[in-house]
Amino acid sequence: MPTVLYPGSFDPLHNGHVDVVEQATSLFGRVIVATMVNPGKPGGFFDLEERQAMIEEAVAHLPEVQVRAFEGLAVDAARSVGADFIVKGLRTAADFEAEQQMAHTNQAVSGVRTVYLPCRPDLSFISSRFIREIAQYRGDVSHLVPDAVSRRLKDRTPS
Ligand code: PNS
Repeated sequence: MPTVLYPGSFDPLHNGHVDVVEQATSLFGRVIVATMVNPGKPGGFFDLEERQAMIEEAVAHLPEVQVRAFEGLAVDAARSVGADFIVKGLRTAADFEAEQQMAHTNQAVSGVRTVYLPCRPDLSFISSRFIREIAQYRGDVSHLVPDAVSRRLKDRTPS
């Protein structure tokens, strides 16, 4: 049964991410969710420890899932947990373009391969960026994110 690494910023985790974790557990078995720094998105909204805590709460119903926070390269994180490959979710063609370049680069520098999972169509519009933006203006995103995230977003945004 393979071990897979699901890396992402998860700043914050949303329901589309949870769907990918659930798909990965049913297809592959052991899943390590890795919250990481995206160098293209500096200055996170939540720090890595907060993101890890929220993800742990949100996937507590999946015993085969572990959650880790890593700084550095995704391929090093994959190697350090003994992952057989990386898993990524795809929402759109734009995601595919970006992910394909990362997947080829990761394989070229380390040999670690990436497998894509299409995310559920009814969740494919959700993005962490818009979750943050709406929450900052005190909009309601509680139906788009796990409860653990919704609570912390409310704590973080002034009333
Ligand atoms: O959720 P995101 O922001 O699309 O996740 C991107 C992430 C964190 C997986 C990516 O930025 C990443 O792999 N960061 C670690 C640094 C790294 O490995 N860079 C090389 C990419 S080819």
